[in-house]
Amino acid sequence: MSKITIQNLYFTYEGDHTPVFEGLNLQMDTNWKLGLVGRNGRGKTTLLRLLAGELEGKGMVSMAGTSCRRWPRPVSDPSRRTLGILLEDVPPEEEWRLNWELSKLGLGGEVLSRPFSTLSGGEQTRALLATLFLDEGAYPMIDEPTNHLDGPGRALVSDYLRSLDRGFLLVSHDRAFLDGCVDHILALNRTGPELVRGTFSSWFRDKEERDRGELARNERLKGEIRRLERAAADRKQKADAVERAKIGISQKGVVKSGLRPYLGEKSRKGQQQRKNIERRADRAIEEKSGLLKNIERADSLKLTPLFCHSDRLLEGRDLSISYSGMPERPICFVLKQGERMCLDGGNGAGKTSLLRLALGEEVPHTGALVRASGLVISYVPQKADHLCGNPMDWGEKQGVCLPQFLTILHKLNFSRALFAQDMREYSAGQQKKVLLAASLCQSAHLYVWDEPLNYIDLFSRIQIEELLLQYQPTLLFVEHDQVFREKIATQIVSL
Ligand SMILES: Nc1ncnc2c1ncn2[C@@H]1O[C@H](COP(=O)(O)OP(=O)(O)OP(=O)(O)O)[C@@H](O)[C@H]1O
Ligand SMILES: [Mg+2]
Repeated sequence: MSKITIQNLYFTYEGDHTPVFEGLNLQMDTNWKLGLVGRNGRGKTTLLRLLAGELEGKGMVSMAGTSCRRWPRPVSDPSRRTLGILLEDVPPEEEWRLNWELSKLGLGGEVLSRPFSTLSGGEQTRALLATLFLDEGAYPMIDEPTNHLDGPGRALVSDYLRSLDRGFLLVSHDRAFLDGCVDHILALNRTGPELVRGTFSSWFRDKEERDRGELARNERLKGEIRRLERAAADRKQKADAVERAKIGISQKGVVKSGLRPYLGEKSRKGQQQRKNIERRADRAIEEKSGLLKNIERADSLKLTPLFCHSDRLLEGRDLSISYSGMPERPICFVLKQGERMCLDGGNGAGKTSLLRLALGEEVPHTGALVRASGLVISYVPQKADHLCGNPMDWGEKQGVCLPQFLTILHKLNFSRALFAQDMREYSAGQQKKVLLAASLCQSAHLYVWDEPLNYIDLFSRIQIEELLLQYQPTLLFVEHDQVFREKIATQIVSL
């Protein structure tokens, strides 16, 4: 067991950026299966890069002789054979151990002889994970491994990580995945890090309970402050009236001089009572100002789906996507207005191709995909790494209503500073949020979303789930987040 200690860490990206970390203090045990969670842009990837020595901050990072290895690592020339690429991490005499790890990750030895670039995203993910734990001298840090994995792939990798007798640091936004494999959670909250023992769900339940308690306390204090301020104003008015009476200028203008000592005492008491009330109000204000600091911004989102005159928006008739000329098993389905259909299938099953066919693109297929006439579709593509320039210029080019677009981004936790920033410098989740926000600005009959939650933080996942349940748009989607699918899909079509 060894400890990684971070003291007073300061880091900012070059240029005119807000610091990502200011005075960060942490102590982590390398034996923990530690889940790292936090909103998009909080600095999870940056923290991993700092620990791996790829970035340099100010402050102290002590690793007690351990080095850190970050996953995913870059692959130079992916056209090479997979074995050659993986043996960069493992000495050749350990090849048998590599095979063993690959088999635990559900990959046969044959992938080793194939060019790395021909492996599906999920296979590449698992192949690169297989070498990570063979290097016993390095602390493994895994950054969002789920994005290319289908449902069974996620379950398999989660089980694999749980079965290891070593610790790791794992960044993920996938609730079921984290629950399957971590025993500690490090949350990068708004006010700083929080480190607890337990699963993701136990941390989240505690957080929700704490947040609810604070919101209730905040409401009570708001009421109390209002009441005390009114009482103080009332006392002040009365005390002022007595004071005026005392010095002979009461509203009636005449005061018998014998009353003066009595009025003096009454005025003093009144002022004292007023001060006491004001002190109580100040204490309540101070307590209130300490609340809600860690409650994450996740205001409700809005959507204006269009009503379609045809009840059947899409219909697949003996449909089969085929790139190889060998059609897969044909499928039949009907997507009716207000339904939310999830396309299911392993990596390479043709889910994205079917979505593209629904958009009206040329995709080789047999059978038919019938679309309602005049169908207006809003599309969120799987990948967001093509975005560049600032989001305002981009939004304008997309023809979205700019104020609405920026409001949605703000609700998805974008700061003003991000609006002026080049999207190439965005975190992965921030990029995906831009695509989602553009789609939410559009009024459409049908929303076609390809893995909408990839890289999206938990709080925005919940925002999007609530939005879909409230506005009931017709949705055709691919998504492997199990919790989302269970909440959202009204039908699942397997490819
Ligand atoms: N190269 C860069 N130049 C400037 N700012 C950057 C750069 N890379 C990241 N940032 C900013 O630093 C902050 C932290 O980014 P980071 O990628 O560490 O976030 P993250 O927590 O990993 O987010 P996500 O959950 O979306 O992956 C973000 O606000 C991001 O916009
Ligand atoms: Mg990241």
